[in-house]
Amino acid sequence: MQIDAKFDFNQFYSGKVNDLKPNTQKSWRSVKIFLISYNGFMENKLKINGGKKLFGSVTVEGAKNAILPILAGVVLCDGEITLENCVDISDVRCMREILSTMNICTHADGSTLYINTKEIKNEKITHELTQKVRASIFMLGALLARFRSANIAFPGGCKIGARPIDIHLKAFKALGVKIVEKHGYIYCNGQDLKAGTIVFEFPSVGATESLMMCACLTEGTTRLYGVAKEPEIVCLQDFLNKMGAKISGAGTDCIEIEGVKSLHGGTFEVISDRIVAGTYLLAVATCGGDVTIEKVVPKHNDALLSFLRQTACQIDILNDKIRLRADERLLSIDKIQTLPYPFFPTDLQPQMMTLQSVSEGVCTMAENIFENRFALVPELDKMGANIVVKTRTAVIYGVPKLYGADVSASDLRAGAALVIAGMKAEGYTTISNVHYIDRGYEKIEEKYLSLGADIKRI
Ligand code: UD1
Repeated sequence: MQIDAKFDFNQFYSGKVNDLKPNTQKSWRSVKIFLISYNGFMENKLKINGGKKLFGSVTVEGAKNAILPILAGVVLCDGEITLENCVDISDVRCMREILSTMNICTHADGSTLYINTKEIKNEKITHELTQKVRASIFMLGALLARFRSANIAFPGGCKIGARPIDIHLKAFKALGVKIVEKHGYIYCNGQDLKAGTIVFEFPSVGATESLMMCACLTEGTTRLYGVAKEPEIVCLQDFLNKMGAKISGAGTDCIEIEGVKSLHGGTFEVISDRIVAGTYLLAVATCGGDVTIEKVVPKHNDALLSFLRQTACQIDILNDKIRLRADERLLSIDKIQTLPYPFFPTDLQPQMMTLQSVSEGVCTMAENIFENRFALVPELDKMGANIVVKTRTAVIYGVPKLYGADVSASDLRAGAALVIAGMKAEGYTTISNVHYIDRGYEKIEEKYLSLGADIKRI
């Protein structure tokens, strides 16, 4: 039975509660828990009538993976912070909720987020909060730097792999932090925190960002080797430096952090989301059409663009715009593997899989970052795709057509890939578990609707 009168949790949650004073917010918490359960029960779906080509232009929002660590970074700052180009997605709202438990006020006005840390206090971050957003783990480094102590429940997030945090914890210990793991919580004592040299065994994005924040207010020079080089790490460096930090080297293998006494407030503009830009590019390549993606940093998508050039679509780059035209069925890409930046990102692998599933030829795709990132395959199979998975490699035999089906998003990027598949397929596709997609895409159905897709939230 379809019930139409649904409570719009997203609308309720966007800004309104976070804009209240922290104490008032507390009394809303029990109401919110009820509403979350209610909304889970009354989950939205996306319904797509496929087969339409995409035309027009679409503007990319601020990067989710840049704003999330920055929202932890504000804990280091003393004063008022204004963040521009801030995306309104559920992960950001959850991070704002965590900040509110620390007495940090946040207020959104369009894409600008105002933050005041003057009344900040150190609070345990509970399981209820960390299960909602994996980026809660960033708070560990920031709280250690600011208060020399942090207590936080193990983080949740999309189920794309085991996602341990051993690299973070090992690095904190190397800087003198004492850590006890008990009953699902991590208790950190940073009284003996000191600068040091850390060599990462793997360039973990999260561990690089956590350690940058932790070392920021720690006396002496900390050197991090073998770090991740993603543009979002450069963005975090730029944000922290604007607030008074002394960090250099982000974007290379080695980051050097000279500890300072304190950080102040200020205004900062978040970079645009290369994964959202890449998702739209792959959507147009899959569905066909002619779309200009605006407000992008093209070089952040170099790996994707070089693959797309092998498929016979037409790509034009002009400053912060990328135009993609695809008139006919594209050619398969022989081999693709995911690797840390600047190589092809794991966060675009499912969307690329959708494109390959309807391309002409065979593609072998290896997933080297997250072990559960092929959860999309059984859903694409329901739509008529022909994909054979052997452990962490998928062989995708391109089919001429996909057909509409009832499918379910298993995580954020798999959800984005299913939306593309639904827009390409013949007939109706219904996608459930849309809350995963809402973690990382702002008003996704409105953007595709404006490009000519027949898509609605039901
Ligand atoms: C970040 C991104 C995510 C992206 C990923 C890889 C954010 C908010 N999220 O996630 O969108 O998919 O980078 O580009 O920026 N690992 C360990 N131990 C650790 C940490 C990581 O074994 O302590 C492993 C993970 O299980 C994974 C790999 O290292 O297999 C990459 O993880 P990492 O780079 O840390 O990704 P995240 O920071 O979680």
